[in-house]
Amino acid sequence: MTLGTPLTASATRVMLLGAGELGKEVIIALQRLGCEVIAVDRYPHAPGHQVAHRWHAIDMTDAAVVRAMVEQERPALIVPEIEAIATDELARIESDGLAEVIPTARAAQLTMHREGIRRLAAEELGLPTSPYAFADSLDELRAAIDGGIGYPCVIKPVMSSSGKGQSLVKRAEDLAAAWDYAAKGGRVNQGRVIVEGFIDFDYEITQLTVRANGADGEVQTFFCDPIGHVQVSGDYVESWQPMAMSTVALERSREIAGKVTAALGGRGLFGVELFVKGDVVWFSEVSPRPHDTGLVTLASQRFSEFELHARAILGLPVDVSLRRPGASAVIYGGVDAKGIVFDGVADALRVPESDLRLFGKPESFVKRRMGVAVATADDTDTARVRAKEAARRVKPHTA
Ligand SMILES: Nc1ncnc2c1ncn2[C@@H]1O[C@H](COP(=O)(O)OP(=O)(O)O)[C@@H](O)[C@H]1O
Ligand SMILES: [Mg+2]
Repeated sequence: MTLGTPLTASATRVMLLGAGELGKEVIIALQRLGCEVIAVDRYPHAPGHQVAHRWHAIDMTDAAVVRAMVEQERPALIVPEIEAIATDELARIESDGLAEVIPTARAAQLTMHREGIRRLAAEELGLPTSPYAFADSLDELRAAIDGGIGYPCVIKPVMSSSGKGQSLVKRAEDLAAAWDYAAKGGRVNQGRVIVEGFIDFDYEITQLTVRANGADGEVQTFFCDPIGHVQVSGDYVESWQPMAMSTVALERSREIAGKVTAALGGRGLFGVELFVKGDVVWFSEVSPRPHDTGLVTLASQRFSEFELHARAILGLPVDVSLRRPGASAVIYGGVDAKGIVFDGVADALRVPESDLRLFGKPESFVKRRMGVAVATADDTDTARVRAKEAARRVKPHTA
């Protein structure tokens, strides 16, 4: 692809559908390569809106609204940043030749729903996963668990992210509460859940995987160093890179990541989530876009996951090399308020080899991710201590 000049007839126009903190970094990477970027989110002044050429606040789950936006802006590339989008309309836009959807419209369709991606991974590709079943009622759910999945198990709405509506159920007595919680936490399609057998893993990783043009112009697969992370109630709080793994576990992880990303196709960066116990690896899920645990790469890699995504989608070469061991730690809002202020930023940045991203979200919630601290060091243990210390020193409060 030739790159043009923004805001002229030659512009390489890219539209982000979703403009949160991850989209914001992708936009900055695209801007640096001279793209014209249109940021779309459901509410005004989202992080990515603040660094784009133009921005729109629309209902991205409304097919007609998405279509009209694309016809108005005529982007060459559409880059979904979130799952809750009218993905069937993206498929029509792609087949009408209106724009290229990253990585593919089918990938967006399959991954917006836990059922689509799980059936592809386990049933079509034969990848190892937790035992699972889908249920539309409490009775069906109970039958699936009694029929083999057993306790403990994990119950999740089929459409949700960041652990919303998800619970670990240890005993039959707690099942009804988990069902109600899932029905409330799901985005759309209320009342369909996946139940998975609980995997007692030693650790979990994100295998960032890039499908980008190689030297011969054909799409090749590149693997970043594995990222270790800690999740609390299904939400990431801390990550580091590289995660120390056995050679066998790393090979299996990459084999799984290579297969699932090849099946989704297209170009771009993917976050493949895997559970590891000894040398055994299970596929969990995949994002066909930068992953929140990959925020660590802002510090640890020569090119962050966001820069790699930007390069890959533009057909440019990638370099996935690690620069230095690193870590990230999430900064939560801690308060429910609009227009909050952050104290302690200078103190945080005094932590050796540290850096911060404050996302600029207009409204804070106690458990909303408002920023992230990243740090590097000779080893990931030290980097983790540094990132957590820098995050701790940032004190968000009401203005
Ligand atoms: N079957 C499972 N066994 C053990 N832990 C799980 C299982 N499913 C999810 N988890 C834990 O919950 C986290 C979030 O689950 P995930 O399926 O990735 O949901 P989300 O789409 O909200 O990120 C995982 O990273 C893992 O820590
Ligand atoms: Mg996940």
